[in-house]
Amino acid sequence: MSNDSTARIVARLREWIATAAPGARLPSTRSLVAEYQASPVTVQKALRALAGQGLIESRPGVGTFVRAVRSARPADYGWQTAALGTPRAPLRAVSTAMRSAPNDVIAFHSGYPDRELLPERLVRAALTRAARGDAALSRPPAAGMPELQSWFAHELRSATPAGVTPPTPGDVIVLPGSQSGLSSVFRALVGSGQPLLVESPTYWGAILAAAQAGVRVVPVPSGPGGPDPQELARAFDETGARLFYAQPNYANPTGAQWPARVAEQVLDVVRAHGAFLVEDDWAHDFGITTEATPVAARDDSGHVVYLRSLTKSVSPAIRVAAVIARGPARERILADRGAESMYVSGVLQAAALDVVTQPAWHTHLRGLRHQLQGRRDLLVSSLREHAPLAHVAHVPTGGLNLWARLPDGTDVGQLVRDCEAAGVIIAAGADWFPAEPAGPFIRLNYAGPNPGAFREGARILGQVLGQTAGR
Ligand SMILES: Cc1ncc(COP(=O)(O)O)c(C=O)c1O
Repeated sequence: MSNDSTARIVARLREWIATAAPGARLPSTRSLVAEYQASPVTVQKALRALAGQGLIESRPGVGTFVRAVRSARPADYGWQTAALGTPRAPLRAVSTAMRSAPNDVIAFHSGYPDRELLPERLVRAALTRAARGDAALSRPPAAGMPELQSWFAHELRSATPAGVTPPTPGDVIVLPGSQSGLSSVFRALVGSGQPLLVESPTYWGAILAAAQAGVRVVPVPSGPGGPDPQELARAFDETGARLFYAQPNYANPTGAQWPARVAEQVLDVVRAHGAFLVEDDWAHDFGITTEATPVAARDDSGHVVYLRSLTKSVSPAIRVAAVIARGPARERILADRGAESMYVSGVLQAAALDVVTQPAWHTHLRGLRHQLQGRRDLLVSSLREHAPLAHVAHVPTGGLNLWARLPDGTDVGQLVRDCEAAGVIIAAGADWFPAEPAGPFIRLNYAGPNPGAFREGARILGQVLGQTAGR
């Protein structure tokens, strides 16, 4: 066969490879022979040429595949370092809580509930209906679909005590997840270089959002009983901060729920300092033995900026949340949202609204409460039995996580690596501290996959911890 035939096959296969996924399998030599009406020798020559160009690789006895890395030339982006200069915020690798894990490990690290805890049937039906409806082709208003705004406002209104003016749908801004809401709130209400008080420990994503917004984070210690209001008042006085970010219900990572008295005192301190409380109610739907009681429900003077997320309770794929704020603060947040994303997909808003307005949603939440309770208790008892050195001082009344203190001096990084080598993924507590960790902690999620493996996971953790602590 001629070199022309080889070149023709090489050119055609290059086109095919350009659109194929890395790792895709090429048709067999026999089908290439038939397709290009060429001899096996010519086809082999063409394949060798493509392999020589680094575009494919052949695995003897298995087949020929598109190469995952197609360029042998090392990339040089050094010029970008000069162009970009030093990063404004220290670069944080994405937290352990966001890592995907293979199926064969015991995963305690994730921040998300397992699929069996999601209302799968409701979600699938809602997405089908949303795809058929108007939402699939229209642009919703910047602040969100009015019906969904009403739902979020109503949820907070139902917790509002007598004598307090409840929020209206017009106070609600729908968000594509509360993470981007945190970024907007920090940018719009704090601003670069200004101080922001946060509970310590607190949600790593809030620390990240604050760092990206150039905000100066000031930790305020917080434990199972919430922050000390006097400590908070002192931090406001010392720093001149005007914003306190906190999770009064089932905090991530500690699971703490503020007692009503603390909530009242914190609100008083915030008011007295002419400041805002940014209340992150991410786990509103994950009460176990108590209900989440939003502090925002007690405020009608615009001091609380309230974030409520449906990401983890409806579906991480329908990533809808809302911020409820009043007065100029709301206008500033809305302006920031406009600059960042203009509006949230109507399909996702319609689907979220559909799910939470079905009667079966409440049935689902009741079942979820029992499932979380069973999982929480199983992990607590497994730890007590098999890993007593991981001390859970506070069994949370809701949320998805246990926060465990390890013996002083434990090398948490080493523990995490050794556990992973033994097939158990845990999250080092350091991610949740805005400054130096107050001690050696780990966070264990009891809402992850396969609770049947919790005991084994605790046994492995206990064994590795015993070895690490003994070093
Ligand atoms: C405390 C807290 N706030 C906010 C978020 C982000 O939520 P969303 O997925 O709605 O952006 C998370 C997610 O882990 C969280 O734990």
